Amino acid sequence: MNIDPKIVQRSIVGKGIAHDSAARHVAGEANYIDDMPELPGTLHAAFVLSPVAHGKLNGFDASEALVMSGVAGVWSAKDVPGHNEVGPIHTGETLFAEDIVDHEGRVIAVVAAGDFETAYRAAKKVKLDIEPLEAVLDIEEAHRRKNYVVPVQEVIDGDVDAALASAPHVFSGKLKMGGQDHFYLETHIAYAIPGENGEMLVHSSTQHPTEVQHHVAGILGIHANAVECQVRRMGGGFGGKESQPTIIAGAAALISAKTGKPCKMRLKRRDDMAGTGKRHDFVVNWKVGVDGRGRILGLDAEYLARAGNLPDLTGPVITRALTHTDNSYHIPNARFVGHACKTNTVSNTAFRGFGGPQGIITIEAVIDTIARELKLDPNAVRAINYYGDGTGDTTPYGQKVEDNRLVEVTEAVLASADWQQRRAEIDAHNAANPIIRRGLAMMPVKFGISFNLTSLNQAGALVHVYLDGSIFLNHGGTEMGQGLFVKVAQVVAEVFQVDLDMVRISSTATGKVPNTSATAASTGSDLNGMAAFKAATAIKARLTTVAAEHFDVEEEVIIYREGRVHADNRSVSFGELAKMAWAKRVQLSEAGHYATPKIHWDGKTMKGRPFFYFSYGAAVAEVAIDTLTGETRCLRADILQDVGSPLNPAIDLGQIEGAFVQGMGWVTCEELWWDKTGRLRTVGPSTYKIPGSRDVPPIFNVRILDNMPNREETVFRSKAIGEPPLMLGISIWLAVRDAIASIAGSVPQLDSPATPEAVLRAVNQSSPSGSR
Ligand code: MTE
Ligand code: HPA
Ligand code: MOS
Repeated sequence: MNIDPKIVQRSIVGKGIAHDSAARHVAGEANYIDDMPELPGTLHAAFVLSPVAHGKLNGFDASEALVMSGVAGVWSAKDVPGHNEVGPIHTGETLFAEDIVDHEGRVIAVVAAGDFETAYRAAKKVKLDIEPLEAVLDIEEAHRRKNYVVPVQEVIDGDVDAALASAPHVFSGKLKMGGQDHFYLETHIAYAIPGENGEMLVHSSTQHPTEVQHHVAGILGIHANAVECQVRRMGGGFGGKESQPTIIAGAAALISAKTGKPCKMRLKRRDDMAGTGKRHDFVVNWKVGVDGRGRILGLDAEYLARAGNLPDLTGPVITRALTHTDNSYHIPNARFVGHACKTNTVSNTAFRGFGGPQGIITIEAVIDTIARELKLDPNAVRAINYYGDGTGDTTPYGQKVEDNRLVEVTEAVLASADWQQRRAEIDAHNAANPIIRRGLAMMPVKFGISFNLTSLNQAGALVHVYLDGSIFLNHGGTEMGQGLFVKVAQVVAEVFQVDLDMVRISSTATGKVPNTSATAASTGSDLNGMAAFKAATAIKARLTTVAAEHFDVEEEVIIYREGRVHADNRSVSFGELAKMAWAKRVQLSEAGHYATPKIHWDGKTMKGRPFFYFSYGAAVAEVAIDTLTGETRCLRADILQDVGSPLNPAIDLGQIEGAFVQGMGWVTCEELWWDKTGRLRTVGPSTYKIPGSRDVPPIFNVRILDNMPNREETVFRSKAIGEPPLMLGISIWLAVRDAIASIAGSVPQLDSPATPEAVLRAVNQSSPSGSR
């Protein structure tokens, strides 16, 4: 390319730039907490976990552990100098069990030793005195007993009873959907390092450094200003490190404070899976009224969510399920009810989509049922119900859908996936092949962007310009592999028009940017990108004044381009300008703060505008199922995803692919299995199957919707990407249903995940002969 670099304004935002750590990730050179050089005297910690689902904890005898060589001590609830609390929202969520253990894997005590294996073996030597109590393991049983962890939530609009009473057709169903383990490559870990005068530095693999800081301070009974939490990166979080890291960091910091030594705590995969929360499994009972064309007149849906032993984030997860039960469809009369069922299983928590997947799979099952009952094309039933002129644009929770891209996205994906031709081919295949059946499905996703608790939608950033023109960037967001750090660095480089290499990405630290929200709800780049944009823009304004004085021109004349600052045909380097500004005693550092505008939410009436905007996507999936073994395979997937004007389309494509495959795992192969005593038996990769590279569809066409800036004023008009495409994975489950329906034409009785067993059951129910 022969372009004069002086004339062409380069754009860093919008470029597909590799993840800042990509090369280090693959070379094994990116440092995770377990890679940090250990300080002399470092202790290693292991939990003593409850082996029973429910019981009265009378006490324990640690004498056998304490005599082991290298063991430094055992600590439990009575040793906590401050509060024994780790809950993200509610009090009473204790780090260490007090007199009741209420799930298998419940933390009772923590043991420290000079090395990890000794600590782990010592923890197993602690003798527990527990009187077993009756355990409630089933969601529906908890509901019958009215055992809930938070009050019921209801989104109500119109008159659903009247709508159902007068509807020409009424269908109902029950759907069970499983939970999901996060299966991040790096299990939970923290490294606590004591300082002087009661100070504590905690390196934590957390999406929420501020929450770790506050709970560590609370546990130690000290002020937050004595604790710093730092995170360079996580080896994956997926929501599993939004609230749960306080448990691990809290224990490590307690040991550190008690012994005066650094303490590292990392969980073995087994303990991570048994002892920390997952996606909520749900049971939902629904009833829908429709007209002859499949237009929804009213929908009644009652969700039973498995909270586990305590609330954690279950309340807001249910809120998001209730505010995503509409997905892309206008539902004139709605009653969506969510119960947070208390069971003697580990407390569930945030997981990519945060209730959205549970709401969206429900309405997609409803739509699929309507179409099959009325013998209509499922896509026609979808289209007739889309938000828009023919239906309406207000969601059941009162937010208007102002930026509707549903028709655009779904029509484009149907066209690029050759829907019509492939539908005919698949039907022909099925007519000739009784054993291997194929299925095809399309679905849209509309996902609301913002934390559904308005106050969380804020962020801070800190930008310094040094005298050589290099820039230091810090913000409250955390890096978990999703590419947040490179995106925010691109924003800052764009503001100053310098090379991306000039912007130093740094660890998230509560001492640099305080009072942050979790990096969650897909809002990381919206919030932190905007805070960094504001900080950089403020510094730039001051620099521009200095440059204008220097060149003796109006400020409007000053142009930043390719690392230099120009006034007509004269220029100085960005570093020279920084030095000039310093000499004039101009501040070269700035803290930016951003709060999302326009949003509000009333948690009592469950009405408002919880989301700044919606993100849209659509997918077409094709599967083959083996009707003799129940095995399924996704043969092809076509995805079109709206990301506004992307900050980094390469990162966004990776997010779409990864989220889709993770969603595929949720609805096909990932199955959590508890035995009758409430012990989780799927505690490692041998028994818990996540998708592997060979499960990725061999034909995988992922596209970003072209040139569609966000209509809201987000950073460079981009849109969030982290969670929405996970729900597109539900298209695979719908395609499996389609394949099963081809056998007898009836409505498949298929729950999620569609494991081979579940598929075989559904196939046998569908077979005309009752078996095959
Ligand atoms: N991508 C990777 N590689 N690893 C992760 O842990 N977490 C997801 C998503 N993408 C995750 C990921 C979840 S649950 C969320 S909420 C977003 O990233 C958070 O980051 P963002 O807000 O910067 O998109
Ligand atoms: N997503 C993730 N975490 C949250 C949310 C949300 O919508 N609301 C509160 N915590
Ligand atoms: Mo994502 S579940 O909001 O961390």
